[in-house]
Parts: sequence; C-alpha cells; structure tokens
Amino acid sequence: MVQEIFPLRTDLPHVCYGLHMTDSGVETSIETAELSGRLVMIGCGSIGQAVLPLLRRHILLPTEGITVLSADERGRGIARDAGARFVHCYLKPGDYHRQLAKYVNAGDMVLNLSVDVSSLDLVEWCADRGTLYVDTSIEPWPGVFDNPMLSMRERTNFVTRERMLRLGRRLGRDSPTAVVDHGANPGLVSHLVKQALLNLRADLLPDRAVPQSATEWATLARDLGITLIQVSERDTQAADRPKRPGEFVNTWSIDGFVDELMQPSELSLGTAEPGRPAGSHWHRDGSGSIYLRRPGGGTYARSWLPSLGGFQGLLMTHDEVFSIADHLSLRNERGFAYRPTVMFVYHPCDDAMLSALELEGRGWQMQPTKRVLTAELVTGIDELGVLLAGHTRNAYWYGSQLHIDEARRHVPHANATSLQVAAGALAAAVWAIRNPRRGVVEADDLDYDQCLDAARPYLGPMTGAYTDWTPLQGRGQLFDEDLEPDHPWELRNVRARQWRA
Ligand SMILES: NC(=O)c1ccc[n+]([C@@H]2O[C@H](COP(=O)([O-])OP(=O)(O)OC[C@H]3O[C@@H](n4cnc5c(N)ncnc54)[C@H](O)[C@@H]3O)[C@@H](O)[C@H]2O)c1
Repeated sequence: MVQEIFPLRTDLPHVCYGLHMTDSGVETSIETAELSGRLVMIGCGSIGQAVLPLLRRHILLPTEGITVLSADERGRGIARDAGARFVHCYLKPGDYHRQLAKYVNAGDMVLNLSVDVSSLDLVEWCADRGTLYVDTSIEPWPGVFDNPMLSMRERTNFVTRERMLRLGRRLGRDSPTAVVDHGANPGLVSHLVKQALLNLRADLLPDRAVPQSATEWATLARDLGITLIQVSERDTQAADRPKRPGEFVNTWSIDGFVDELMQPSELSLGTAEPGRPAGSHWHRDGSGSIYLRRPGGGTYARSWLPSLGGFQGLLMTHDEVFSIADHLSLRNERGFAYRPTVMFVYHPCDDAMLSALELEGRGWQMQPTKRVLTAELVTGIDELGVLLAGHTRNAYWYGSQLHIDEARRHVPHANATSLQVAAGALAAAVWAIRNPRRGVVEADDLDYDQCLDAARPYLGPMTGAYTDWTPLQGRGQLFDEDLEPDHPWELRNVRARQWRA
C-alpha cells in the first residue's frame, strides 16, 4: 500500500533560485528545491562525497537534514563538513528494512549512492514508506554480475533494468517518485541527446517544431537521418604516480567499474543495421537489444570526440543504451519502424584502461590493491557526450568537457568524473522534489531542459561539434578488414577488429 505523501506546502516556495559564481566571476542563478523531510544518503564513496556540497547548496532542508549511511568510514569528515550525520551501517538483504526504518520516514528522500545495495528492494520499500528515491545506477545485491553460476543473460543490465521497469508498472504511475539510473551516464546523457537533436534540428530542419512527446522526439531523430547514437566518453585525467603492477586504479568506484568490465557487452540495435552480429543474442524477440558473448572489458569499438578525434574504447554495458533507444523508437504492427543503434564507448583514464587489461589477464582475479584517484590527479578532463551519426552532416557530438581544475574549484575533493555524476544526481533530486508522485522513472522520462539547467554549472564547457570523421578512417590498409564502405556508421565498421559483426 502506497502512503499519501507530499502535500504541497503553500507557505514555502516549492522551487526557487540561488546564485552561483562561475569561473569568470559572473553570478548566475542556480536551481534549488525545498525538501520538507530529511535526505538519507546511502554510500559515501567517490560520488557521495562529491554530491554532499551540492546538496547543501541546492536543496533546502530542515536543520540536521542529511543523514549518511555507509558501510565504511570513507567520507566521514566530508559529511561532517557538510553538516550531515554519518552512520556506519552495512545494509543486508535480510534486514535492510529494519536499518532504514530507523532513519527514513514518509516525506524523506533516499539517495542511494552505494554499490551492492539492491535498488529494486529500496525502490519498493521507499514506495511503501512514502519516500522519494534517487539512484545513479540500478544495483543488485552482491553475487550477480560476477557470478559464474548464473547464465550470461542473467548477468546483464537488460535483465536488471527490466525487473525495475516491471516494479514501476506494478507500483503505478502516481506512486512516490523513484528516479533510477540518473548520474552522468546513465542520466545526463539522455538529456544531452535531446539537446543535440535540437541543435541538429536548428541546422538541418529549422522549420520543425520542438518535440513535445517521445513519439515526436523519435520522429525528429528519424527525419534527421540518425542511425547511430554513441555515448562517447574519454577520461584523460592522470596522476603524478602511475599505476603499479597489481594495482587497480580508477577515477570512480573500482567495484562498480569491475562489475561492468566482467558483464557481457550490450547494445541496442537499430533499424538501419542489416542484422544481428555474430556471437550476439537478442535479449528477447522484439526487444531491439542484444548482448554479446564477450566481456565489456575485452570488447572494443570506435568513436569520436572533439578534443582527440577518433579513439577506441570499451563497448561496455550501460542502461542508457536501452532507455535512449526505447525512447527514440517508432513502432508499427510488425515491430520497429525506426530505432537508432545505441551503444556506450568508454575510454576510462589511462591507468584504469591498463588496470582492465591486467584484470582480464589475471583471469578476472582482482588485483591486490586498489586506488581511486582524487588528490593526486595533476591533469586531464572527463569528456563525456553523445555522438549522433548518419545524418547529412555525417556526425555531431555534444557534451561536457570538464577539467580536473574546474571540478576542484566547485568541490575541492572531487574529480571531473565524480562531479559530472554528482551533477546528474543533484538534477534528479531537484526534479524528484518538484515532481513527487511520478512513479519509477528514468532520465528519458524527465524534463531534459530542467535537468540540464540544474547540472550545467558543474559540467564545464558544453561543446557541440560536427565532424567528417567516420570509423572507416585509416581502416583496411595495413590489415584486411570486413568493412562496409557504403554505410560508414554500420556496426560492422564501428566494431574494432577482434570481434565479428
Ligand atoms: N550514472 C553514472 O554516471 C555513474 C557514474 C559513476 C558511478 N555511478 C554509480 O554511483 C554509485 C556510487 O559510486 P561510487 O563511485 O561512489 O562508489 P564507491 O565504491 O566509491 O562507494 C560505494 C559506497 O557504497 C557503500 N556501501 C557498499 N555496500 C554497502 C552496504 N551494504 N550498505 C551500506 N553502504 C554500502 C560503501 O561503503 C561506499 O561508501 C554506484 O552505484 C555506481 O555504479 C553512476
């Protein structure tokens, strides 16, 4: 039974605006929202620590308004500095509800920034309790993504996300809002796709009205001629002390990243593709999404971004490859009339790339030491955007180029990666407060413009760029490759050489 919650308080402005000092010293308005209950944050790792100062800045809370529940001591000092109460607490499948009931009441918000705490169980518990919920990744309890006893498909994101969507249908559209999967990617990238579509519309279809529904967004994508959307990310942040043998290094959760490396690669396959690649399986008939019998950590694809041009990254599973494709699909009685291919191509920081290579070489036995890079970073940006390809101008990238120095100016203990994700979590929290009874929603269901407004102060330069690069560039000269020269953005060309399509 879902409780009645969130009567609109008429004595307080539900949404208001604050001021924010940009790098150039100009004051701009920032978006704030008022939560009448408390905010309970689960997990205080790289993302939790980065978001705490933003929550303080943007979310008006009662005194003593933030409680942090975390299974380790990281971030205790940062929580204290943000005025939050820090509770060392390990949530387990059997008794998470007893633990949470001590701290969470109707009208509160749970911000789940942990790894290995089930989003599915927490969303259901929060709906029953009358509590808002936000996370940046749909997490299962431990023992799923790396469990050899499970089938390969059971270890996919598709299955985990489907369980969440099914729960959302059961709880109903007017249950307490639970925004799932809303960090940077998944999360903000869905809004970047919409902004990129609008930018392309201005150049290529200037008479077309701004879309108001999912069908209109999909129609715009189809009429622009977009066949492929890549979430395209290159992290160039580097520390003064390089990775050592036997050490796993990353700019965000090593546990979370290793799960993704060991999961099968997944992507959504569009209507422009001639067929399903060899070695892949449909998730189910008519799903338009596939998994490869290969680990994300050992599967490579090509993409492009403005600072470095063409690059090769990991073809990793991520929920946005399903949600963006589903949102932009047009269906008829025979199935898909239009669907873009959507994939995530990720080059993590160089030390993380080497760590992934070493991990696979160790037969997926975790390295004995781990290091998340924060204070020791000396250079680099996290360049995260979306590449929309196949149209008459070839390809267009739109996204954030956040430098480590700028990230630190906003939040001294953050890095560019954690701040981008924190900005996404903040935008979701603000949206959930403004829209408290919308049930289980993903980024593609949210107001893209409001979310970008909330996150933008923390994303650094936002860049849009056309390119004439295609994945055919430099291919087939030194080695024979099975390429498709007439359709440069087909998966056959996008994939790197060692897997067949
Ligand atoms: N959408 C995105 O753009 C994006 C990007 C990066 C990370 N993420 C997600 O954000 C979340 C946090 O990532 P991170 O880098 O901060 O992770 P992290 O590993 O740095 O921190 C995880 C936190 O979870 C806590 N935790 C783990 N098990 C717990 C339990 N049983 N009970 C209570 N607390 C527990 C840990 O104590 C720690 O504080 C993860 O779900 C990750 O996948 C999303």
